Amino acid sequence: MPETMQRTAPPTLQRPVALVGLMGCGKSSVGQRLAKALSASFVDADDEIKAAADLTIPEIFESYGEAEFRALERRVIARLMTGNPQVIATGGGAFMDPSTRAVVSEAAVSVWLKADLDVLVARTSGRTHRPLLNKGNPRKVLAGLIDQRYPIYGLADVTVESVGGQSHEAMAARIIRALEEDGRAFAPEVA
Ligand code: S3P
Repeated sequence: MPETMQRTAPPTLQRPVALVGLMGCGKSSVGQRLAKALSASFVDADDEIKAAADLTIPEIFESYGEAEFRALERRVIARLMTGNPQVIATGGGAFMDPSTRAVVSEAAVSVWLKADLDVLVARTSGRTHRPLLNKGNPRKVLAGLIDQRYPIYGLADVTVESVGGQSHEAMAARIIRALEEDGRAFAPEVA
C-alpha cells in the first residue's frame, strides 16, 4: 500500500483468521498480538477443547486416545468459525484433519506460520503439555512431523515465515501485511 494510502484504523476482519502450523511456531503468542493489533478477539482452540472436556490435552489423549481428541477438535473448530470473525490459534494437528481443513478453508483465511526445526525445538523444549512430544526425542518427532505435515500446511491461504529472534509484534505486523496482500480477511475500506 502506498504511503499516502496508509490506514488510520486497523483493518476490520470480515472472516476468521485461523493460524496453523507445528507446535512451537508461535500460533498462540503471535495470535494474541495479531488479534490485539486488529482489535479483534483471540481464541486458542486447545483452550476451548480443554474447557469442553474439562480435562488437559494429555489427559484427553491418555483417557480417550488421539482419535477422540481429533473428533472434539473438529467440533470445537467448526464452532469457532461461526460468530464474530476472530483470530484462532488451531492445534498443530487440526489442519491435517481433512474435515477440519475443509471447514477452515470454507469459512476462514488460514495462515501457516512456517518455522524451521531449530526454532520449533527451541520453543517447545522443557514443556510437557504436548503429548506428541512427550514420547521419544522431541527433535526427531518434530522432524518427522515437518516431513509429514508441511506439504499439507502449504495448502493454507497465506504462509508467513516464523523466524527465531523476531518479536511477536513484528511477526503480527508481517501477518497483517500478508493478509492485506491476500485480500480475503479484511472488509474493504470505506472512503
Ligand atoms: C498437536 C498440537 C497441540 C495440541 C495437541 C496435538 C499436534 O497444539 O493440539 O497436543 O498434533 O500437533 P499446539 O500446536 O498449539 O501445541
